[in-house]
Amino acid sequence: MTILVTGGAGYIGSHTCIELVEAGYDIVVADNFVNSCMEAVHRTRKLCGVDFPFEQIDLTDYEATDRLFDKYKIDAVIHFAGLKAVGESVKIPVTYYRNNLDSALSVLEAMKKHEVKSFIFSSSATVYGPEAPVPYNEATPVSRSTASPYGNTKLMIEYILKDTVKAIPGFNAVLLRYFNPVGAHASGEIGENPTGIPNNLMPYVAQVAVGKLDMIHIFGNDYDTPDGTCQRDYIHVVDLAKGHVAALKKVKENCGLFVCNLGTGKGTSVLEMVKAFSRSCGKELPYEFAPRREGDLPAFWADPAFAKEQLGWVAEKGIQEMCDDVWRWQSKNPDGFPQD
Ligand code: WQD
Repeated sequence: MTILVTGGAGYIGSHTCIELVEAGYDIVVADNFVNSCMEAVHRTRKLCGVDFPFEQIDLTDYEATDRLFDKYKIDAVIHFAGLKAVGESVKIPVTYYRNNLDSALSVLEAMKKHEVKSFIFSSSATVYGPEAPVPYNEATPVSRSTASPYGNTKLMIEYILKDTVKAIPGFNAVLLRYFNPVGAHASGEIGENPTGIPNNLMPYVAQVAVGKLDMIHIFGNDYDTPDGTCQRDYIHVVDLAKGHVAALKKVKENCGLFVCNLGTGKGTSVLEMVKAFSRSCGKELPYEFAPRREGDLPAFWADPAFAKEQLGWVAEKGIQEMCDDVWRWQSKNPDGFPQD
């Protein structure tokens, strides 16, 4: 079975490629390098032990995407490709809607033409919106609107997929709703490589630990949580990757539309994460409390029961292993991947 992994040179995509090859799948990777680089592809190929085909392509270009399906016999698509910075999406919403929707629509059009009928989508817990009861459960209706254009593109693509399943007999769409992906491959060879100053907590903490940044700013310590800082469901990226391999089993069962959370079911606070990272890097990390960040929710985590029941998948790695693996990646690659 050959899987097209769009965005496969990115953080979650590259880790998923390794697990797919490990599970015996053939893969084709497509990426436009907006958030990655060729070095990530080289290292992922080395870790896979397979020189898998790679195509540098802008998936919003339908003709180029169509040619991809002419060139390779693709059986299923795992779609990671998309812009994903929440804050940036608020500043340039049209760019986010154009890029994320057009790339998904372009792939779906090419799939229809080439009769490829299985699509696994990199969705996000953000689609539950601020009102959802915690823990987030797949039975909870999605929000009418999320906190950002980024989140709204995820919501819209979920609707596009629901309608596609209704319209095309035998079409399978798996919507995987991620919580907070962190961690890195145990080799330390690949990991999260944000451009510029990281928006997300873990890469920011890692860059303070290696001395690229001088202070962790904890956004708010007056929330209604045990230590006053926000709680999130952090999930190791390798566990997340294994969740995609498990989801392919669902596709083989001709699942039609299948929605599933990929989370641990546990909430970890910002302060707890900072302290865990201090243990990993062996030094106290400097932090200060700063004003709350607009749009942040105090606490949310997954109800992981459905994934266990339906996929036989459970996240196995804990917070300390997540921090250990990020520290190994960041300390071996303080400036991320060497640029081409
Ligand atoms: C986590 C906590 C911050 C940085 C986002 C997206 C979500 C998904 C994961 C893509 C919050 C606090 C952060 C810092 C801090 N992305 N924080 N200082 O916002 O839960 O989720 O990333 O799928 O869709 O919304 O993750 O890592 O940005 O923040 O105190 O320098 O860490 O306030 O409480 P978030 P995050």
